Amino acid sequence: MNTLQRHKVIAVTGGASGIGLAICRRFGSVGFRVAIIDMNTDEASCQASNLRSLGIEAASFTCDVGSENQCVQTINAVIDTFGGIDILVNNAGITQRSAFTETQTSVYRKVMDVNFFGALYCTKAAIKSLIDRRGVIVVTSSHAGYAPLLGRTGYSASKHALHGLFESLRAEIKNKGVHVMMVCPGFTKTNLQTRALDGDGSVSHHPQSKVGKEDTAENVANAVYQGVIKRKNLLVLTPTGKFTYFLTRLAPGLYERIMAKMLKDELIRQT
Ligand code: NAI
Repeated sequence: MNTLQRHKVIAVTGGASGIGLAICRRFGSVGFRVAIIDMNTDEASCQASNLRSLGIEAASFTCDVGSENQCVQTINAVIDTFGGIDILVNNAGITQRSAFTETQTSVYRKVMDVNFFGALYCTKAAIKSLIDRRGVIVVTSSHAGYAPLLGRTGYSASKHALHGLFESLRAEIKNKGVHVMMVCPGFTKTNLQTRALDGDGSVSHHPQSKVGKEDTAENVANAVYQGVIKRKNLLVLTPTGKFTYFLTRLAPGLYERIMAKMLKDELIRQT
């Protein structure tokens, strides 16, 4: 174990499930002390206990990242418990699957509250500690953060907004020693899609197309770990993601036609 890593603290929002949980395990396995931040109290507590049974120092914190007050209180509680934060992973997220014409504006607000404002509130609350420790901010974006995605206008907007905020922030705080890494996973096997919101805010009944091979949360977590060590600015994961990234830049019109054709069935509501 690297002695530098042994005492470092990683705080992961949405750490009770999927990609966030795999990141907690990956960093915990090399000696990081782990703060699981999640709105699912029982699952977060259970996963923190699982980490402790593996010899990892871990604690869980209940927080709905859509609430600024809860984010401030939770980040302060993490700092009180562990003494500071070296890596903040803004990972908590929800998705939406519905046509724009059928989607209520309240759904857009909900997705922005969690995916965008949640990351903003936690980063604001943790920034002093991150600067003190010359830390790292990791942001879980998506391919929908740099490319359009049919049937997910709200989700894509929230992920694009994260790039605007955090890539600008990177330029502002680089000279203070804080690094920002954007992570764009491909389709990954987690619980995200089972909770996707429909246009009226209920769980979506629209089918989901899977483009390319589904990744595992463990692969994503491993890439995040390597990316943090190398202080990468951007991680675009999976072959489909890399192809998408270059095609959207070289031939955006062609990408839009291919993507719309592949995902058009998603706008058909299943009963
Ligand atoms: P997941 O549903 O398995 O995990 C998300 C976690 O966030 C859950 O533990 C949930 O309780 C928590 N959460 C949700 N809303 C919250 C809130 N308001 N406050 C605090 N915690 C909250 O999903 P997954 O896939 O692990 O998602 C993690 C991130 O990865 C998300 O930002 C998602 O957009 C992103 N992502 C996922 C992809 C996938 O295919 N699974 C692909 C690209 C990006």
